[in-house]
Amino acid sequence: TDVYCVVGHPVAHSRSPWIHTRFAQLTGQALRYERRLAPLEGFAADLQAFIQAGGRGCNITVPFKLDAAQAAHSHSPRVALAGAANTLVIAADGHIHADNTDGLGLVADITRNAGIPITGRDVLLLGAGGAAAGVLGPLLEQKPRRLVVVNRTHAKAQTLVQQHAAIATLHKVELVALERQVLETDLTQNFDIIINATASSLAGDDVPAPASVLHARSLAYDMMYGPAAQNFLNWASSHGALARDGLGMLVEQAAESFALWRGVRPPSAQVLDELRDVLA
Ligand code: ATR
Repeated sequence: TDVYCVVGHPVAHSRSPWIHTRFAQLTGQALRYERRLAPLEGFAADLQAFIQAGGRGCNITVPFKLDAAQAAHSHSPRVALAGAANTLVIAADGHIHADNTDGLGLVADITRNAGIPITGRDVLLLGAGGAAAGVLGPLLEQKPRRLVVVNRTHAKAQTLVQQHAAIATLHKVELVALERQVLETDLTQNFDIIINATASSLAGDDVPAPASVLHARSLAYDMMYGPAAQNFLNWASSHGALARDGLGMLVEQAAESFALWRGVRPPSAQVLDELRDVLA
């Protein structure tokens, strides 16, 4: 049987083995999926060991998404844009191809599972780190009307926007970086979809945006799930917005990876329902 894995540090908490094992059962694919704890300074060596042992694909989690992009022999345009990879596809001859399915997973969860279109809408992306960079390209491909990036460190938001200027133009999206202060003072700045790609909750800090960015039909989406998402979800709900955590993004990015490896699309909506029951 072909072997797949999730590589991270830490990795014990990862739900990917559960998700992919369930995908394999439901699609009748014979495969094994394991966790790998790679040493912080030893991603490339660990990957080689996995390939020697017959490994055919990996999901990559914190802190190795950059290492994964660099270890690959080829990569998709999405990896080039994000500067990071969450999926490696390993051919029988050992060729390593890198892709990034995080943004596709986010878009699939918002548009299909939540049933909310991004096309033509106004979107606010909070954060400009690796998590934000990983999803901006696929968000722009949905052709929102306007996409605003706001980050604590404004220069990072500006850099991210510059890196995506060409794809924004291609899709006729108004893409801008705004200073947090503008959100505070200009109360006309509200959005249909607000996506939290910051780590502010991990620092125990407040949501890094004023409630005036929400309107009554806004979707407020946290890319995290579990306790890390709770503060943002409570903030959104208490201001009347629809709140959604990132569990569906987790399952949908996994489904995109699974499809790249096996050429088969798993029933991701069903597996998301099952996972919510498991975690409840
Ligand atoms: P990741 O790969 O998870 O995105 P990262 O690259 O460290 O991790 O980025 C974390 C993001 O959360 C950044 O946008 C960061 O803002 P800075 O660029 O100013 O560091 C944001 N962030 C982290 N802690 C925050 C806090 N307490 N308040 C607001 N934003 C925060």
